[in-house]
Amino acid sequence: MGANDMAVEQQEFLKTLAEKSDGGTLRGDYTLADAQYVVAQDWDAYTPEQHALWRKLYARQAELVPGRACEEFITSLAALDAADAIPNFEQTSEALQKATGWRLVAVPGLVPDHTFFEHLANRRFPVTVWLREPHEFDYIVEPDVFHDFFGHVPLLFNPIVADHLQQYGLGGLKALKLGGLKNLARLYWYTIEFGLIQTAQGLRAYGAGILSSGGEIEYCLTSKEPKRIAFDVERVMNTLYKIDSYQETYFVIRDFQQLFDETAPDFTPIYARLQDSESLPANSLLAGEINISVA
Ligand code: PHE
Ligand code: FE
Repeated sequence: MGANDMAVEQQEFLKTLAEKSDGGTLRGDYTLADAQYVVAQDWDAYTPEQHALWRKLYARQAELVPGRACEEFITSLAALDAADAIPNFEQTSEALQKATGWRLVAVPGLVPDHTFFEHLANRRFPVTVWLREPHEFDYIVEPDVFHDFFGHVPLLFNPIVADHLQQYGLGGLKALKLGGLKNLARLYWYTIEFGLIQTAQGLRAYGAGILSSGGEIEYCLTSKEPKRIAFDVERVMNTLYKIDSYQETYFVIRDFQQLFDETAPDFTPIYARLQDSESLPANSLLAGEINISVA
C-alpha cells in the first residue's frame, strides 16, 4: 500500500470508530503509526504517576487471580515480573519469542480487523501503548495497556494458546473473504476475552476481559445471574454478546486443546449456515443445554 492509500485507509478507519464511540474520537495518537498501525512504545515517556497507577492496577488484580484464573495464567504472570512498572514490550518480546515465538507490537489502540488478523497470523500481538486515567480505575471503554498486557500476554506463553491465536488470525483473514467476520468475532469474545475453563480445582477464568477486570473476575465464577454453558463452536458463533455490562453467558472449555481442536475444522460451512439463521440473544439457554451450576 502506498503512503497515500494508507492515509485514506486510516482516515476511513478512524471515521468508522468515531461513529461507533459516543465521544466521537479515539484516544490513541495514530499520526505516527506505520502501515501495520505499529508505533514505538516510547517507554521513557511514561510518567512516574502512570507507573504508580499501573502498580495499583496490578496489585489489585494480582490479588484476585489466585483461585479465579487458570494455573497457566497465574504461572506466566508471575514469570513476567510486571508488578512494579508498565512493562517494556521489547523485554517481554525477548522472553516471549524464546517461549512460543510470539512478539508484542505497540499500537495506538484499536486497529482495523485485517491488520489485527495479520499481526496474529504472524505471531505478533498488538498491545495498546497508553494507560487509562485514574478515574477509569474500575472501568475503561477502549482497551488500554493494562487490559492488553495483563489480560492477554500471560497466556501467549502457553504453546497451545499461542498456536490457536495464530490460527485465529489466519481464520480472520479467511472470514473477511467469506463474510464470517461477525461470527468469528463472537468466538474471540466468548473465548479469548471472556472464556471460562473447567479445571480439577473447579471453574476458572482464562479470558482477558475477565482477568483484567476488578469486578467480573468474581462475578463470572460465583454469581447466579449469568449462564455457564459447555463450549460449542457453532453455538458460540451464533450468539450475541454484551459490550457494556458483565456477560450474560460464559462458555466453558475443558482445556486449551479442546479450544484448539474444535476451532481447527474449516468454518466455511458454518459461516454459510449462520448467514441464514437468526442470532441467539446473549442470555439464551437452548433445549438440551445445561446451565453449569456454581456453589
Ligand atoms: N478453522 C477456522 C476456519 O477454517 C480458522 C480458525 C482457527 C478460526 C482457529 C479460529 C480459531 O476458518
Ligand atoms: Fe482484549
